[in-house]
Amino acid sequence: MNLKPGIAWIIGGGSGIGAAVARELAGRGWQVAISGRRLQRLEEVSASHSGIHAYPLDITDANAAAATVAAIAADFGRIDLLLYGAVAATGTPPGSYDAARFAAAFDVNVMGLVRLLDPVITQMSRQPTGGQIAVISSLAGYVGLPRGGAYAATKSALITLCQTMRVELEPKRIIVRLITPGFVKSELTARNRYRMPMLMETEDAAWRIVDGLVRSTRFEIAFPWPMVFVMKAARLLPYRLFFWLSALTLRAR
Ligand SMILES: NC(=O)c1ccc[n+]([C@@H]2O[C@H](COP(=O)([O-])OP(=O)(O)OC[C@H]3O[C@@H](n4cnc5c(N)ncnc54)[C@H](OP(=O)(O)O)[C@@H]3O)[C@@H](O)[C@H]2O)c1
Repeated sequence: MNLKPGIAWIIGGGSGIGAAVARELAGRGWQVAISGRRLQRLEEVSASHSGIHAYPLDITDANAAAATVAAIAADFGRIDLLLYGAVAATGTPPGSYDAARFAAAFDVNVMGLVRLLDPVITQMSRQPTGGQIAVISSLAGYVGLPRGGAYAATKSALITLCQTMRVELEPKRIIVRLITPGFVKSELTARNRYRMPMLMETEDAAWRIVDGLVRSTRFEIAFPWPMVFVMKAARLLPYRLFFWLSALTLRAR
């Protein structure tokens, strides 16, 4: 299987991984709509390639989200690939569970995707070739580690939601994909003050994502492999051992 170039829409396309994926897709012949709140960032990315087009959007606004789906479908005739990569960088220190911070993280990271689903599914269901919905979660969503806070909780929610959607949307010819990266250079990670093992270049991550999306329809695109292995193994540990190791990571930083 090799997905032909079509129409992609990236939420979070004005920076980091989303912007790099936009450039990678455009370089492979796709028309790419990019969304985010900061118009200037969107314009900088769209200026880098004639195949990239800015559609400013705050994903917390449901009406604006539906209107943008309609605008992109009207401009390009269809949406073949939705890539959801918006993230609210709301830090939650260990031992603090501030409700407003959790709500802000869930509002963008999870509900932002949910606001798009009905209009995008309606649009893709009309298309003879269906479509793909790809969601950027994280290896941080595999297990609950100290300092995971609201961020990891939202990423876990995305994993289970995608697992549900994969089977439910298959009869509509919509293929759901889950993307679980380790650490990647971006605005998000630039804020981190701790050591990030195997921190990857943004373009390297974007290449892996695009290659995974166009070369196969497998559910998960996860990288880098050594971290994927460790995190998947952590899910299999008995809880006594898991929590003992987990407590070591709290003391390590
Ligand atoms: N970097 C990593 O190590 C890493 C690892 C695993 C997973 N990820 C995931 O990869 C995705 C991309 O993150 P990144 O690392 O590339 O960080 P990033 O550069 O900060 O990108 C996040 C994007 O989300 C957009 N966004 C935030 N709030 C929004 C809103 N209300 N409406 C619309 N867009 C909004 C931002 O644009 P505006 O501010 O202009 O709205 C920004 O372009 C995220 O889902 C992140 O969790 C990243």
